[in-house]
Amino acid sequence: MNVDLTLNGQPRSISDVLPHTTLLGWLRSQGLTGSKEGCAEGECGACAVLLSRPTQEGGTRLESVNGCLLLLAGLNGQEVRTVEGLGSVGALHPVQHELAVRGGSQCGYCTPGFVVSMAAEYYRPERQAGEHSNGFELEAIHGNLCRCTGYRPIRDAALSLGQPADGDLLSETLTRPSPLPRPTDLITPSGHFHRPETLEDALHLLDQLPGAKVLAGGTDWGVEVNLRHARAAVTVAVEHLPQLNTLTWTPEYLELGAGLSLSELERRLGESVPLLHAWFPQFASRLIRNRATLGGNLGTASPIGDSPPVLLALDARVVLVSASGEREVPLSGYFTGYRQTVRKPGELIRAVRIPLPLAPLSGFYKVAKRPLDDISSVAAAFTLTLEGGVVASARIGLGGVAATPIRALATEAALIGQPWTLAVARQAARVLKAEGTPLDDHRASGAYRAAMLEQTLLKFFHEQTESAVGA
Ligand SMILES: Cc1cc2nc3c(=O)[nH]c(=O)nc-3n(C[C@H](O)[C@H](O)[C@H](O)COP(=O)(O)OP(=O)(O)OC[C@H]3O[C@@H](n4cnc5c(N)ncnc54)[C@H](O)[C@@H]3O)c2cc1C
Ligand code: FES
Ligand code: FES
Repeated sequence: MNVDLTLNGQPRSISDVLPHTTLLGWLRSQGLTGSKEGCAEGECGACAVLLSRPTQEGGTRLESVNGCLLLLAGLNGQEVRTVEGLGSVGALHPVQHELAVRGGSQCGYCTPGFVVSMAAEYYRPERQAGEHSNGFELEAIHGNLCRCTGYRPIRDAALSLGQPADGDLLSETLTRPSPLPRPTDLITPSGHFHRPETLEDALHLLDQLPGAKVLAGGTDWGVEVNLRHARAAVTVAVEHLPQLNTLTWTPEYLELGAGLSLSELERRLGESVPLLHAWFPQFASRLIRNRATLGGNLGTASPIGDSPPVLLALDARVVLVSASGEREVPLSGYFTGYRQTVRKPGELIRAVRIPLPLAPLSGFYKVAKRPLDDISSVAAAFTLTLEGGVVASARIGLGGVAATPIRALATEAALIGQPWTLAVARQAARVLKAEGTPLDDHRASGAYRAAMLEQTLLKFFHEQTESAVGA
């Protein structure tokens, strides 16, 4: 079967696609060498391309994504635009023009990636120019690295961009519906790639082939494919399935589909779940969040994944589905050992449910070597309810301090029933320091992790009391 793409506005029907060929590898093999390979693991943004995604209003959003992590087979039916499709030497795109006139490029290796991420922000439907700003969120380029120009001229270019002019051809396409991923059955001697049409088809496939690799955004799997040469005999893409794309408020819980990208969740939830609102910007970069999903984060079961501490503090439940039906397990009982969970072969994570109402106080603290776009050394999330100044309920989720993400049960017990004072917070922070069994590794020593845990609770206390004073 061929993989059909719209590439830079032109239909392409691609034969002989192998299931593990990345979009970046294929683009470069076609002579489209604007997109570069810097790291092949989602860290540098040199490979960024624009992927068309549907908006809730029925139009199209251009999202900047890492071409090195996308599998070509997973893009059947979709629309991709590379830097070559934005402008040319004689007709620069406004983003390219601003970068050029402000000295935003020296060796130029990173420049196509910056152009693409800046173009995504340039066309972002919600970008509103104000009196003192063009509405450009610099976060859009947090996943792009430049090793020689320095970021100031790039930032100047970003902050100088106007709005797309009337008649801008790309702007006009954004009002049309976005092409969607198509059902795909790619059978090759080096593996099979399936994108089932329905959840039932997906569950049937996984029932028959429980060892198949489930694929969502590919931000973990793409790294395995590129750097560790991982290969799956059968890959089953699931992130498009409607049952994995729910975002539903009920009186009892909020359901978040496991296949929604973190960017989509971030946009649609706004500030309605303050803990998630605090967490999203600390997760990787915009490029990664445009693809990464909750299902993938829980699917890896990494002890340093960021969503488990947050979801443990929110007392979330995981909805698992298989050919034999659906079941719900508390996240606190989901992890059973290092990268092991109660999820059975053939089961998919369909959604996460967060009980309502939410606890009024919450905070998320991620300690990493860099403040942005880095994996945590240790992470802690808190939710707290006060009644008359006394802690009525406390839930604390921790990552990076044991073989699995854990609840800080001893610290919760030290807080509940106590007045919410500095003395109590200090005492509980000492208990928190001793929770888990933090390891020494290349990210941090066990002693450093424990010391940082203690600080997270003190920081939470000070932030909450300061905001109460400020309110
Ligand atoms: C540069 C970079 C930065 C990153 N930064 C962070 C960070 O700050 N914090 C963090 O926690 N992670 C980070 N990650 C890791 C990764 O982005 C996350 O784990 C992400 O949530 C994975 O989601 P995905 O949809 O891309 O998963 P995929 O790569 O598609 O899948 C990951 C795993 O989950 C399984 N899976 C996916 N969906 C399901 C499902 N619905 N049901 C069952 N199994 C499923 C897959 O089989 C696979 O084993 C980073 C990765 C990169 C490359
Ligand atoms: S090549 Fe570095 S992010 Fe893709
Ligand atoms: S211009 Fe050389 S890496 Fe950015």
